[in-house]
Amino acid sequence: MNKISKKYKTIDLSNSSSTKNGYEDFMLKEIFEQPKAITNTVNKYILLNEKCNFPDFNLPKDILLNVKEIYIVACGTAMHAGLASKNTIEKLCKIPTYIEIASEFRYSDPIINNNTLCIFISQSGETADTISALKLAKEKGCTTIAITNVIGSSITREADFSFYTYAGPEIAVASTKAYICQIALICSFAIYLAQVLESTDFSILEDLNKELLDLPKKIEMVLEKKERIRDITKQCYLEKNLFFLGRGIDYATCLEGSLKLKEISYIHSEAYAGGELKHGPIALIEDGIYVVGILTDCKLASKTISNLQEVITRGAKTFVISNQKLPNNTFDFVFYIPNSSTFLSPILSVIPLQLFAYYISKQKGLDVDKPRNLAKSVTVE
Ligand code: AGP
Repeated sequence: MNKISKKYKTIDLSNSSSTKNGYEDFMLKEIFEQPKAITNTVNKYILLNEKCNFPDFNLPKDILLNVKEIYIVACGTAMHAGLASKNTIEKLCKIPTYIEIASEFRYSDPIINNNTLCIFISQSGETADTISALKLAKEKGCTTIAITNVIGSSITREADFSFYTYAGPEIAVASTKAYICQIALICSFAIYLAQVLESTDFSILEDLNKELLDLPKKIEMVLEKKERIRDITKQCYLEKNLFFLGRGIDYATCLEGSLKLKEISYIHSEAYAGGELKHGPIALIEDGIYVVGILTDCKLASKTISNLQEVITRGAKTFVISNQKLPNNTFDFVFYIPNSSTFLSPILSVIPLQLFAYYISKQKGLDVDKPRNLAKSVTVE
């Protein structure tokens, strides 16, 4: 019999991370842990840099200088974190970035090679499709990076490099704090990569880095207004259908808000890029239907406002989340979030949507933490 010697790894977990700690549900607790989760994640990579207050991921420069394209591959909410980050990487690093659903990517015979950097995002680090997609990318010679919240998870053992989000254990099935930490981590990584590639002015990277460090305060400001979201949900928790509309980076937030709502409230909802409305879905807009609009990108805000006006004309009720000055008396409910760089706005705009899904689920008397038919990690195909 062969004796195997295994290394021990001590994981630092406080008792409060596995209890509700006074909250009614794990999901609510995890939503409220978000300021701390962001601080822990962002600071970790800054601390790696002994020279200055700037993120460092310590990757070999020769690999980074040869990257011609980036693929982000993941499932569900983790894939939405990729969508919310695409713009940041492309604008800062000037590298084309593609977001792929892991279960599609693994069977698509992708055209990737040793100039491709593949980033795999998984909260649990155990999602079967994401792990298989990672193995395929390795076979094709790509450099692989895993982003996960679970130390020592399967995905970290497969990838060339692993970076952790330090969100703390996420117990509720619906992912919240891990999602925003994934976006913050990729933003830190894009700042680091842009610095290595010298693809963006250092002063721009410095400002964005400062904004990342300021995020926890802004998240607190959103959380302080939780009652307002609860009030809004009192009027729509019995709805059967709901729409989410947004453009650009706000479209990723719409997809995530719609997924959260489906998962824990069992309300059917659809997320559309505003410009697609006329190409079919507008046929479903009827008197009294609720449409949630996200407006955080000043370049696209007027376009989304026009889309919302189109649904208002057809009798829709509108709930808008924005950091822009909006026309008076146009929408039924407006929830303002603090201003931020467009790269970071998905982190702030998703929080009201997490609370929206949470309060609807509570008002329907559902089990928020353990929704029907869902598992926290999907370890089978
Ligand atoms: C999130 O609310 C979902 N439960 C689900 O979409 C999840 O994000 C997906 O299954 C991927 O999980 P992972 O991040 O652990 O890989």
